[in-house]
Amino acid sequence: MADSGTWPSWKALLFIALFSMVISCRGNSDQKVYVVYMGELPRGDFSTSAHHVSLLQATLGSKRATESLLHSYKRSFNGFVAKLTEDERKRIASLEGVVSVFPSTKKQLHTTRSWDFMGFPINAQRSQTESDVIVGMLDTGIWPESQSFDDKGFGPAPTKWKGTCQSSSNFTCNNKIIGAKYYHSEGNISPPDFPSPRDSEGHGTHTSSTAAGGSVSGANMYGLAAGTARGGVPSARIAVYKICWFDGCSDADILAAFDDAIADGVDIISISVGGSFPSDYFDDPIAIGAFHAMKHGILTSNSAGNSGPDPESITNFSPWSLSVAASTIDRKFLAKVTLGNNASYEGVSINTFILKDTNNYPLVYGGNVPNTSAGYDGSTSRYCEPDSLDQKLVEGTIVLCDALSDADGPAAVGATGAIMNGDIFNDSAFAFPLPASYLSSLDGARVYNYINTTSNPTATIFKTTEFNQTAPFVVSFSSRGPNPITKDILKPDLTAPGVDILAAWSEATTVTGIPGDERVVPYNIISGTSMSCPHASAAAAYVKSFNPTWSPAAIKSALMTTAAVMTVKANSDGEFAYGSGHIDPVKAKSPGLVYDMGEADYVKFLCGQGYSNKNLQLVTGDNSTCTAANNATAYDLNYPSFSLSGSATAVFHRTVTNVGSATSTYKAAVAAPSGLSVGVQPTTLSFTSVGEKQSFVVTVKATVTSGMASGALVWDDGTYQVRSPIVAYSHSF
Ligand SMILES: *[C@@H]1O[C@H](CO)[C@@H](O)[C@H](O)[C@H]1NC(C)=O
Ligand SMILES: *[C@@H]1O[C@H](CO)[C@@H](O)[C@H](O)[C@H]1NC(C)=O
Ligand SMILES: *[C@@H]1O[C@H](CO)[C@@H](O)[C@H](O)[C@H]1NC(C)=O
Ligand SMILES: *[C@@H]1O[C@H](CO)[C@@H](O)[C@H](O)[C@H]1NC(C)=O
Ligand SMILES: *[C@@H]1O[C@H](CO)[C@@H](O)[C@H](O)[C@H]1NC(C)=O
Ligand SMILES: *[C@@H]1O[C@H](CO)[C@@H](O)[C@H](O)[C@H]1NC(C)=O
Ligand SMILES: *[C@@H]1O[C@H](CO)[C@@H](O)[C@H](O)[C@H]1NC(C)=O
Ligand SMILES: *[C@@H]1O[C@H](CO)[C@@H](O)[C@H](O)[C@H]1NC(C)=O
Repeated sequence: MADSGTWPSWKALLFIALFSMVISCRGNSDQKVYVVYMGELPRGDFSTSAHHVSLLQATLGSKRATESLLHSYKRSFNGFVAKLTEDERKRIASLEGVVSVFPSTKKQLHTTRSWDFMGFPINAQRSQTESDVIVGMLDTGIWPESQSFDDKGFGPAPTKWKGTCQSSSNFTCNNKIIGAKYYHSEGNISPPDFPSPRDSEGHGTHTSSTAAGGSVSGANMYGLAAGTARGGVPSARIAVYKICWFDGCSDADILAAFDDAIADGVDIISISVGGSFPSDYFDDPIAIGAFHAMKHGILTSNSAGNSGPDPESITNFSPWSLSVAASTIDRKFLAKVTLGNNASYEGVSINTFILKDTNNYPLVYGGNVPNTSAGYDGSTSRYCEPDSLDQKLVEGTIVLCDALSDADGPAAVGATGAIMNGDIFNDSAFAFPLPASYLSSLDGARVYNYINTTSNPTATIFKTTEFNQTAPFVVSFSSRGPNPITKDILKPDLTAPGVDILAAWSEATTVTGIPGDERVVPYNIISGTSMSCPHASAAAAYVKSFNPTWSPAAIKSALMTTAAVMTVKANSDGEFAYGSGHIDPVKAKSPGLVYDMGEADYVKFLCGQGYSNKNLQLVTGDNSTCTAANNATAYDLNYPSFSLSGSATAVFHRTVTNVGSATSTYKAAVAAPSGLSVGVQPTTLSFTSVGEKQSFVVTVKATVTSGMASGALVWDDGTYQVRSPIVAYSHSF
């Protein structure tokens, strides 16, 4: 029968995320590549690389020192990459100056319409200095010839820019793409990868154009999603840091790119990349890089991950970075399937292929056409995995498959089309290398029944058409909270469009990148928190273009407290799906109040989380010690949202900074469902100048025995509404 119950879910992850996690262990099998993180750069006149060599010499001897050192981080923080045995790793880890040593694993990469949908039109008010904003994109590189990166009308790079352009494989920068560099610390670069910042994959071109591509009218993908494609900050500059290759993005390279991007002078870092499991803050290269970026006034915006909808599936959640979930826009893509009996079904799909409408094609069921010589039978071939189908029986037919896949199985054996069916991951549409549609399992069962009761079953698959839909809601694959490491900091922070987004693409690949696909396109439609992240990065750049002196925490606060409210009606897992809500860039540029923070606040928080004096001193580069006075609970981190786990009473201390009207009086409005009682003290905050700070205390009593309870605190002066969600959840969430 047609159902998708046992379909392996890893396939969906691969499918959405594009990059898989592989532990890297090339070369000598008992040696692994490790990242040795050593915190802040030492002060004074000091050769960091020489120090790394002598440290390795003293620990491992001179021969091993030279052969093991692969890379030194030295521009923005201290550390190195080395090939070490387990015994050597232990010796290095115990050294005085070392914060953490972790294996360099591979992380995965996790339009027209989306900006308008967000209420952020092309003619929104723009800052005169938008073209001074530099967005650093850590991704698969870029396709510089794309019209989205045309530099017509751009002057030279802002003078603060200190980066470089690595011109090779006929890659050149311009006044839009002002810098580009690639990072590949291990192994050789071979096709399809280019030894250049040029993007052979498409992902980095897509995210870069979403963040800061120029306006390109008439963009579309085979007529779909037609309109003007543009980035959120079309006048901003792009700095490209290519860290991801066909087999993933290594921790060592991620950190090397942060080391450069910070020193190069970028304003915002956008990284749509993440691991498969949560790591402690200083064992996670993205959290480490984002921490040092924060110290230099740079906000890091990262994708929440594509491992939803399970709870605690979020993998980027450091409190100093912005964690972005993915939600829908008001557009969906459906491809109709018609059977020989004239029954029609709508499936979710981006099908650009046109089969002759009048023709009906032979229809077979994957479970009836196993490749028995390769050991398959109907119970396994029904999913149409690669190799599982009998080429002789499938070639030229449309095949019914009991799972969503990237349809590489049917494509490889020359099928004319594929009809997949199932009930998971049907809230975003994917493109396939052949005509295909994804029906509900109920409709799949009807197609199966037709095949089963008809002597010469036939079918046709039509080109996709666009429909409106109610939006936004957080898509099922978007990773969910609660926060796996710090239970009392709410994550994700907010949501942004990440479903079926049209943006620029690399012309070195095809729509799907799957063998047999020959469609080279300048614009492609893809989905992921990888796509929502650059929307948020652009919104952050937009806020910064109006408020160039704001700290990363202030920008993040502005984005969170002005986000459009979402409700559990659209997503039963509430704030763990969408955080503070749906991003609203126009409102975020003038939020009224911000919850500001600096390095010292995070250090107090880390102290309260049990980080040692030694590590705090290395990370900060000063003599910070963890004392009773310098020790804060997660509740007291000046975060723009409130979260507590377990039934408890929590006291949250907060300070807001006035960035709105000089003279203003804000009143607290609290929404609290049953199970939550919320007290705010004082309930009125009066300001007489911009920049003035006022403190208050929120006391939350929670009796939540299962699931979650969500309320909110809104500071309202009649002009600005500064909203923070308040979430309490049971330990057994
Ligand atoms: C790069 O150079 C090669 C060889 O000169 C050429 O075939 C190719 O079209 C160039 N690529 C681009 C994108 O310009
Ligand atoms: C399907 O519709 C076509 C056109 O309306 C018609 O000619 C044909 O007889 C119908 N077939 C069946 C099986 O109903
Ligand atoms: C079955 O799969 C094998 C690869 O595992 C392939 O070589 C063979 O051609 C396939 N047979 C048919 C009939 O498709
Ligand atoms: C996805 O599947 C669910 C469960 O069958 C169904 O309720 C929902 O309508 C489907 N969504 C779409 C877009 O087809
Ligand atoms: C129809 O289904 C029955 C029961 O599952 C099966 O025995 C039979 O072979 C099927 N017939 C066709 C034509 O698929
Ligand atoms: C979809 O919504 C847009 C904007 O509300 C409207 O202009 C358009 O006509 C609608 N399209 C369809 C197919 O309903
Ligand atoms: C830390 O303290 C030591 C000893 O008190 C002092 O020599 C050193 O300069 C201090 N370092 C910093 C960065 O303040
Ligand atoms: C910090 O506070 C926690 C409890 O809030 C306590 O367990 C810890 O000992 C404190 N650390 C210091 C250095 O005061």
